[in-house]
Amino acid sequence: MPLVEITDTKSNMTKNHTSSAVKFLFLVFLFTITSFIVNAQLSTDPAVIGEGKSLFEANCKACHRVKVKLVGPALAGVYDRVPSLDWIKNFVKNSSKVIASGDAYAVKLYEENNKTQMTAFTSLKDEQIMAVISYVKTEADKPDAPVATTPGPGTQTASGDQGVPSTYLNVILVGMIIILILLLVVLGFLVSALKRFLDNKSLTEEEKDVVESPYTFTSVTSSSAFIFIVAFIVAALGFKAVINGLLSIGVQQGYAPKQPIAFSHKIHAGQMEIDCKYCHTGVMKGKSANIPSPNICMNCHNQIKSGTNTGEGEIAKIVAAYENNKPIEWVRIHNLPDLAYFNHSQHVNVAGVECQTCHGPIQEMDVVRQHSLLTMGWCIDCHRKTDVNTKGNAYYDKLVELHNASSKEAMKVENIGGLECAKCHY
Ligand code: HEC
Ligand code: HEC
Ligand code: HEC
Ligand code: HEC
Ligand code: HEC
Ligand code: HEC
Repeated sequence: MPLVEITDTKSNMTKNHTSSAVKFLFLVFLFTITSFIVNAQLSTDPAVIGEGKSLFEANCKACHRVKVKLVGPALAGVYDRVPSLDWIKNFVKNSSKVIASGDAYAVKLYEENNKTQMTAFTSLKDEQIMAVISYVKTEADKPDAPVATTPGPGTQTASGDQGVPSTYLNVILVGMIIILILLLVVLGFLVSALKRFLDNKSLTEEEKDVVESPYTFTSVTSSSAFIFIVAFIVAALGFKAVINGLLSIGVQQGYAPKQPIAFSHKIHAGQMEIDCKYCHTGVMKGKSANIPSPNICMNCHNQIKSGTNTGEGEIAKIVAAYENNKPIEWVRIHNLPDLAYFNHSQHVNVAGVECQTCHGPIQEMDVVRQHSLLTMGWCIDCHRKTDVNTKGNAYYDKLVELHNASSKEAMKVENIGGLECAKCHY
């Protein structure tokens, strides 16, 4: 009897084993199939990832990060949690339509995100949306980088031709003052030591007079040498102030007026890393960079109303402007005279110059201030020094050929007519 029982359980066990093995294989099979379907649309091709990255940064980064929640959910793993990849395509193109259709997942998501509207991207193609999601997936699969060591994309500092940074100057000044004080102390010790030494000698009356003559405060300050030095320093400082004043007539470097709404680039462009182009929509295609209209602000601020410390006031001003269809009256900071012509797209799009090269570390400023001189000399100086960005620009092929035939140096803006009066003056 016991023998039979044993075999029985044994066969039971094998049966159990086979059935769970089959289940397991089936699951593996399902998983490979689904991941195959996902992978068929998601790519690991570097070119696609690159395209996805730039699309993501231009369109989505304002509200999404891969691993942390911002205005919208963190996008890592979205390809696994949504009903299907086609759902993503529809949702990105027009999320309100998907939500209005009563789609359970979309409605739940919308509720969870305090009913924040996502922008509709009607112009994005299916492949472009999949490129973005592919980029998100590669980013999500990367191991976590150590936090806060990589500077943001916009943190390039201004070019080095701005002289010694003022913090260094301050350190040098303080150092020099400390050294001077130490020198004075040492000198004081020397004098008193000498006096004590001389006191022990037998001196003539005349010599005693000299040794004991007190170099008191009054005797020093009334000496003609002292008066001369003080007068000289005052005159030099006054002269320098006058010269500086004359040189900066009409120059507004450092101009940082108070704005009608306490908008901070440090919060938006710095901490939240919103792309400059998301708000300054003209920089790639036009002369002006454009200041964003209230409806761009409202993409986020119809939900983000909680003030950090300023209270409701500031955001309420945006809402009021938006609802009354009145523009916000920002005070203009950078302003060339009418006689000069400057074009943003030529510099940002064609030449690939960073905003920060001309505008300084805007992403660190709570209040924008004019960083560069914006004089004719400033424009010309850069045109003399800067190489033309000819990469991938067939327009320049012929010019580069001609230039290289006559010169060994790289082609500068100067060489393509960047110093001609008519290029900058109407
Ligand atoms: C103005 C802010 C905003 C922008 C810009 C934005 N999104 Fe969203 N996104 C949201 C919000 C908010 C949600 C949550 C759903 C809702 O409230 O409608 C969301 C949800 C999603 C979801 C679903 C997430 C989930 O957890 O299932 C996907 C996918 C998505 N966004 C992709 C994109 C892509 C791709 C772009 C760029 C082409 C983009 N979003 C740009 C705000 C934004
Ligand atoms: C969320 C929208 C937003 C983003 C993102 C943004 N800005 Fe602005 N920017 C504004 C607004 C609004 C103003 C006008 C108010 C002010 O001067 O602060 C402005 C003003 C400016 C000005 C001064 C304009 C003048 O009157 O001369 C410069 C320069 C500027 N931005 C550069 C940048 C750069 C560079 C970035 C990216 C690092 C950036 N901005 C990102 C909204 C934005
Ligand atoms: C080569 C130097 C240079 C670069 C690079 C540059 N700017 Fe400007 N920017 C200027 C000058 C000069 C003005 C003043 C233009 C005027 O008054 O006509 C200006 C003005 C502005 C203004 C005020 C409004 C306007 O349209 O005139 C904004 C906003 C602005 N820049 C944003 C940006 C952003 C964002 C970038 C990067 C994407 C950028 N700039 C790159 C030189 C530059
Ligand atoms: C991509 C989303 C987004 C856009 C676009 C945006 N903001 Fe913000 N803004 C935020 C976030 C997030 C905060 C931080 C809120 C907080 O800390 O409570 C903020 C904070 C602010 C604050 C400070 C709030 C306070 O009371 O301290 C002001 C003012 C502000 N934004 C103005 C603007 C203006 C003006 C625009 C349009 C030119 C704009 N924002 C566009 C997301 C955005
Ligand atoms: C940071 C360097 C830099 C500064 C500052 C700068 N530029 Fe330029 N500029 C360039 C570069 C690089 C090009 C070449 C663009 C190209 O490839 O067409 C250029 C081209 C130009 C052109 C077209 C020249 C041509 O022959 O087609 C004009 C006009 C111009 N800049 C005007 C200005 C004015 C006006 C200012 C000052 C307000 C200025 N730039 C300041 C770098 C600069
Ligand atoms: C790269 C662009 C650029 C070129 C090239 C250029 N200028 Fe200018 N010029 C400017 C800018 C910008 C201003 C305005 C500077 C200011 O407001 O301080 C200016 C100002 C001037 C002024 C002063 C006007 C006033 O009201 O103070 C004169 C005069 C002038 N330019 C003449 C010329 C002549 C002549 C040439 C050719 C030899 C020339 N410029 C080439 C950009 C340029």
